Amino acid sequence: MRFLQLLISAAVASAKVGLLLPLYEYPTTLSGIDDWTASLDAMDAHPDLPFHVIINNNGGAPYAETIPSNIKDWAKLLGDLNSRSKTSLIGYISTSSSARSLDDVKRGIDQYAAWKTHEGWEEPPVQHNIQIDGIFLDEIDTNPHQLKYNQEVAKHAKKAFPSGTVILNPGSTVEEGSESLVDLADSVVAIETCYTKVEGARCPKGGYTPFGTSSLDSLTNPVKESVLVHDFYEASDPFKAASLETLEGIVKAVVAKGVHSFYITTFGYTGDFSSRPANVTMVARLAAQG
Ligand SMILES: *[C@@H]1O[C@H](CO)[C@@H](O)[C@H](O)[C@H]1NC(C)=O
Repeated sequence: MRFLQLLISAAVASAKVGLLLPLYEYPTTLSGIDDWTASLDAMDAHPDLPFHVIINNNGGAPYAETIPSNIKDWAKLLGDLNSRSKTSLIGYISTSSSARSLDDVKRGIDQYAAWKTHEGWEEPPVQHNIQIDGIFLDEIDTNPHQLKYNQEVAKHAKKAFPSGTVILNPGSTVEEGSESLVDLADSVVAIETCYTKVEGARCPKGGYTPFGTSSLDSLTNPVKESVLVHDFYEASDPFKAASLETLEGIVKAVVAKGVHSFYITTFGYTGDFSSRPANVTMVARLAAQG
């Protein structure tokens, strides 16, 4: 028993908490270039920190063709990400709370699994490594009525990426009766919420609990759980971001909890990896220190 406990604590201590980057931003826009560059710089500054980067090309798979027609805009970026040894690329697919057909979701998974190399815009053409390492299944409804659907998509993803990372996103703790999903995935996003108490489009009245370190008490199996906190500000009019001290406290608590991965953004998800204090430079630095 004691030996088992030692083994378990050793496993927890050695599993390094990673970042889960929901950088849903087109790579060729001006802010996209800034944010993706800042993310690559953060990977280089912290070569031991795992980065799980969600690749979301215009809403994700399934695409009209196996390789989406705009892949030339993405190829060099995907190659750059793939050249970082601790970075894994996770293909985005929304399940729309099981409303999307199983066939569509499975086709999307198979498409990502087929990405190998592709040229970008360079002349003469350069082949980039566009390989995807796992799947992020968004908008998962963990009501036990959907258990069969969720099991089927998670199993299909795991089969397509046997040594990759499969992440399910219900955005809250898995409902009673669906706990077996946790065994099928590498991680479940068990907390996805706003930090701010200011209600708005992403933080709807009555629809969320503002994040605080006590929110972490709801986690039941942290090594297989991820945390996403967005809208990290105190006031919106005029805008006042939350403090760096608050960010430090949150990152410390999340890392101490030993979650699979996490991320915090100052404002929304798209195009906000440079605004302070929760920019990718700072979140990565604090995570690496944590
Ligand atoms: C993030 O913020 C820190 C200071 O708070 C700053 O040094 C760094 O340059 C910022 N990163 C980006 C990409 O703007």
